[in-house]
Amino acid sequence: MSSAMLHATLPASSSAEQWSSRASPWMHASQSKVLRGMHAGVQRHILSLRVAPIFENSMRHTFMDAIRSRRKVGLSRVSMEPSPAVTSEVISRSDWNRVAIVLEELRRKCDTPADELLCVLIDGMVEEMKAGLAVEGGSKDYKMILTYVDKLPSGKERGHFYALDLGGTNFRVLRVHFGGKESQMKDQEYQEVSIPAELMLGQHEELFDFIAGKLAEFVSKETDAYHPLPGRKRELGFTFSFPIKQTSIDAGTLIKWTKGFAVEGTAGKDVVQALNEAMEKRGLDMVVTALVNDTVGTLAVASLATQKQDDEVMISVILGTGTNACYVESIDAIPKWEGPKPSSGKMIISMEWGGFSSSFLPRTQYDEALDAASVNPGEQIYEKLLSGMYLGDVVRRVLLRLAEEAALFGPTVPSKLLVPFILGTPHVSAMHQDESSDLQVVGKILGNVLGIDETSLELRKLVVDICSIVAKRAARLAGAGIVGILKKIGRDGTKQDSSATQNKRTVVAMDGGLYEHYPWFRAELKAAVAELLGSEVAKNVVIELSKDGSGIGAALLAAAHSRYGLFPFKYANMRA
Ligand code: BGC
Repeated sequence: MSSAMLHATLPASSSAEQWSSRASPWMHASQSKVLRGMHAGVQRHILSLRVAPIFENSMRHTFMDAIRSRRKVGLSRVSMEPSPAVTSEVISRSDWNRVAIVLEELRRKCDTPADELLCVLIDGMVEEMKAGLAVEGGSKDYKMILTYVDKLPSGKERGHFYALDLGGTNFRVLRVHFGGKESQMKDQEYQEVSIPAELMLGQHEELFDFIAGKLAEFVSKETDAYHPLPGRKRELGFTFSFPIKQTSIDAGTLIKWTKGFAVEGTAGKDVVQALNEAMEKRGLDMVVTALVNDTVGTLAVASLATQKQDDEVMISVILGTGTNACYVESIDAIPKWEGPKPSSGKMIISMEWGGFSSSFLPRTQYDEALDAASVNPGEQIYEKLLSGMYLGDVVRRVLLRLAEEAALFGPTVPSKLLVPFILGTPHVSAMHQDESSDLQVVGKILGNVLGIDETSLELRKLVVDICSIVAKRAARLAGAGIVGILKKIGRDGTKQDSSATQNKRTVVAMDGGLYEHYPWFRAELKAAVAELLGSEVAKNVVIELSKDGSGIGAALLAAAHSRYGLFPFKYANMRA
């Protein structure tokens, strides 16, 4: 069959830059060819299954619509004026049938019905949360990390504080000026540095030396006004967005790396001590006063920025390269806490929810292959289903299988499809949300990123369908995670005895590129939460974007835990 083709003219989405590139050391795992030779009767059966269009409210036809109409009208050409007609590779009817089978299998395996699946997962999540709070290591999935943050910043913080945000292939150094209650954040200055790929897989000392060097560079550009008083040091909030076992507000050892990092020698080491030592070696007069996860920084910023009442900002979630959530837990619900009870009676718990795994999770052969080829096989299973680092590669793996089994892109498999992580989640987002009638953005990305230049509209629709299936699963699983926390803290509307919390508003602060830059994903996540809670309860749950907790939030927590009280700098005295 041949189709009239489009020469895509749109530039590829610029959103790719907004998400920051996440280089990965992962190897490609070869794809199996399980469907080869599938009996024709089975194929027909699968094709007869109901096919739900992805964009229910959209005028756009799905790939399956295209297949249906192809059957009706025969293998007719699709013409799209005024694009020049270019002959594409011939895809036979049986190959298109194979494509349909693979697509339906993907749709079925990624399905996330609320009652039959998500509710079961939520119950499992609540059980794991309780187990992780009971004793250290009590949950196989959740670390339930004690963060030593027992109250959120008051808003009275003043002066200049620093933050180091390490959580992906870029890190940021910030200096933030807080002005006290009336004029919160006065100004900030920051520098972003990308971490050389070899350091992400290198030695512990090299990584921390590199970071300390960049911090020293940043500080060396400052005027005298920023110098701390004699005998004092600059104070730094260190956002270290990896699983740690925290032992105080300014100490914690790395449990394991995630997000493609595999630096040798850090696991089991106190990362604050490592950074303090590296800074000292450089003669840098700076000290870490708060070690925070990005989720905790986000909660801190959200509680100030939104000026919400006590007990409203309860949960924060990062959906970016990696994923995690933290929430405010009652200290009485944390049997593993051994210290004196904090006066607030609360403690923020960083769940490390990316570690959730359950046989009920809707995994496919693509997820299994991706996991097997990762630097941390068997770990972060939930994260690998829903975070920005992985969604693009799941889509790539589906396309690769279609290229191999159904000659989707012609007789030879496009070589770029074999490159792990070549297709990023920003590409998925841009293709999925392509509003043009002829899916020009999809065509452009297939051309620019995968080197597949001539694509039919049917093929582009198929790609959109695949993106949609993978993203929908991710969004609904993330929504279930949020409902799991709401259930644990009695804010899901099911608790009978607690009239006080029954109708309380709960704010869920969200951050991360996946959430921020993918509106369809955001809407799907919120819809899943509403579906699971019911519309009445959902009215009390506000899910909102809260930006830059990993930078400003960390500086804020450094200020809240300052060694020198409220006025640590002469500059603060002069100008604050
Ligand atoms: C890390 C978490 C982090 C999350 C979001 C995960 O891979 O383990 O600590 O909060 O990514 O950055």
